[in-house]
Amino acid sequence: MSDLLEAAGLRKSYHQGAQALEVLKGVGLVLQAGEVAAIVGPSGAGKSTLLHLLGGLDRPTDGAVRFEGRDLYGLPDRARAQIRSRAFGFVFQFYHLVPELTVLENVSLPAWMANGAGGARAGRERAAELLEEVGLSHRLTHRSAELSGGEQQRVAIARALMNRPRLVFCDEPTGNLDSETGKSVLKLLLRINQEEKTAFLIATHEPAITQVAGRVLHLKDGRLWDSKST
Ligand SMILES: Nc1ncnc2c1ncn2[C@@H]1O[C@H](COP(=O)(O)OP(=O)(O)OP(=O)(O)O)[C@@H](O)[C@H]1O
Ligand SMILES: [Mg+2]
Repeated sequence: MSDLLEAAGLRKSYHQGAQALEVLKGVGLVLQAGEVAAIVGPSGAGKSTLLHLLGGLDRPTDGAVRFEGRDLYGLPDRARAQIRSRAFGFVFQFYHLVPELTVLENVSLPAWMANGAGGARAGRERAAELLEEVGLSHRLTHRSAELSGGEQQRVAIARALMNRPRLVFCDEPTGNLDSETGKSVLKLLLRINQEEKTAFLIATHEPAITQVAGRVLHLKDGRLWDSKST
């Protein structure tokens, strides 16, 4: 395996008026290509914050993130955006679908972002297949605002896989799913991991996920600890 993502000395503070809230106090992490790692920790520990920093979405207060050897925050914004759109997938905690687009359009969106309208047209078949995998082939033309929370979460998962990313950041990907649907989504993620060597970094409270993850990282008091390694 080779180093895919490396973070060193990550700090993140939020400022509320005169007060600074230090959420991450020096976090380091190395993730290998094809690895599945879970991040656990209490609510408010900074799991979502950390995923956003690692995913090139929010600049750290200090420290660096390297993806395939490239310093994400040393790159021009355009180059970082290109890595995000071509190499990363995101399942956000609150989904962030585009409410007025249909389910199929939401899932095709990453192909459009990476390769324009032609890419989105070419990607429609894959988008439909992914939606079938998450059990939503009967909802392709619904607007995403018309879906239940669990359905939106599954659309977000299909969207994250659309561009065959090398690394997918998942923030509580089964948080809104019943246990059967959660199991089938987890099975899909593991199959993608096996077949395409896609790496997954998953913030979760779900024991079913931590059991199958190769590593479990604990985020507590602003620091990250490795607790299970296979
Ligand atoms: N934009 C922001 N401005 C100010 N404070 C923030 C901001 N985003 C997060 N925080 C604070 O940072 C801390 C960590 O938040 P974060 O969302 O990363 O936690 P989390 O571990 O993902 O929690 P949960 O399990 O509830 O999703 C919280 O105390 C939160 O209030
Ligand atoms: Mg969170």
